Amino acid sequence: MHQQSSVVDLCCGPATLYQRYLRHKNIQYTGLDINSRFVKRLSSWGATGIRWDLRETKPFPPADYLIMQSSLYQFLPDPRPVLNRMLVAARKQVIITEPIRASGKNRSPSTARYGRRAFLQLALMQGDDY
Ligand SMILES: C[S@@+](CC[C@H](N)C(=O)[O-])C[C@H]1O[C@@H](n2cnc3c(N)ncnc32)[C@H](O)[C@@H]1O
Repeated sequence: MHQQSSVVDLCCGPATLYQRYLRHKNIQYTGLDINSRFVKRLSSWGATGIRWDLRETKPFPPADYLIMQSSLYQFLPDPRPVLNRMLVAARKQVIITEPIRASGKNRSPSTARYGRRAFLQLALMQGDDY
């Protein structure tokens, strides 16, 4: 992510992405979360935090990157309304990361090992099908 990029982090939670990685870069960060405690804290750190229920249909704030980490599962079984609004708001890229847990007794040990480590990372360029 280049300096001077703008990022909107959906379901930002405690904003780990900002705290650990982005706050020392020259990046304009906005975190959206339904939990007002998280977004208030962000504002006190000098970033932007907005209380936002993603189930509402209003358009997301535009930015270079629209990011959602470990949260897409909350919008299943049909994540398309959220994904479509991310694609509209992203000038450069939509980034979704979702951990995959290997569970279930039928998995082979090697599959389970892989699954514990694996992270599914989808980078959906604007205009791509998903
Ligand atoms: C598993 S946490 C992920 C937090 C953060 N993205 C991370 O990776 O650390 C899920 C977050 O989604 C938020 N959330 C749940 N439903 C939401 C909704 N409808 N709109 C906005 N945020 C929501 C929760 O408040 C919580 O902070």
